[in-house]
Amino acid sequence: MRVIRTLHVGPVQTNCYLVGNPETEQLLIVDPGAEPDVIRDEIRDTGMMPAAILLTHGHFDHIGAVRELLKVYDIPVVAGRGAEEFLKDYDKVAPGMFGDHLTREQLHFPVKKYVEDEELIEYAGFPITCFATPGHTSDGVCFFFPTEGVLFSGDTLFLESIGRTDLPTGDAKVLIESIRQQLYRLPGETLVFPGHGPATNIDYEKRYNIYTWERGQTKEQVSSQTKERRSWFRRKPRNTEPSEAETTGKDSDGQSD
Ligand SMILES: [Fe+2]
Repeated sequence: MRVIRTLHVGPVQTNCYLVGNPETEQLLIVDPGAEPDVIRDEIRDTGMMPAAILLTHGHFDHIGAVRELLKVYDIPVVAGRGAEEFLKDYDKVAPGMFGDHLTREQLHFPVKKYVEDEELIEYAGFPITCFATPGHTSDGVCFFFPTEGVLFSGDTLFLESIGRTDLPTGDAKVLIESIRQQLYRLPGETLVFPGHGPATNIDYEKRYNIYTWERGQTKEQVSSQTKERRSWFRRKPRNTEPSEAETTGKDSDGQSD
């Protein structure tokens, strides 16, 4: 059994995930966006040793605690190939008013590995396939754990929504193509853990995420899917997390910064 803990950290309640492997007694930290002390306490509570930090993209709210964590843990940081350029530019990492939430010093940390599209990596005993998913930012990457049937989607794909595209390097067309071409080919039952808000799965998003519907869908199809969606919610509330998953911290319906 794998342990997935979700911490809601920082000013926009980013989902920071701890993914533990009891066989290796190691864990991965996905998107440590803020509150390094809280993350460290939670790691200590698992009794496992961190093996790597995975970054889905370089926005301030996903990387804010990396520097502090690296002072405590000597572990590699893994990011998308595009992050090599993205992370050099403070104004892309923390655009406009978001600069209030990240010092320039917090951006100074080494990235050990920049992954390519479809690159297979292994940390903490987990094989992981990396998918380049630009569109929310140019450096977006999603991490797929095939043995677990789990995807960490960052700010690319949310429950019934997608990441915002109005920030530097954002591009709505590119984002939708990333989701359709890269993520929608994964098994439908794949659990999707996004950078903000609740978990979902690929089948559900294919059917009910209006942002990724094909242009050719008829009004009748859309209307019937909307009715189905309403009955789906009556039947089953928003609870798509695996029963063994543990969730800590406050609930959040955070959005896509
Ligand atoms: Fe973001």
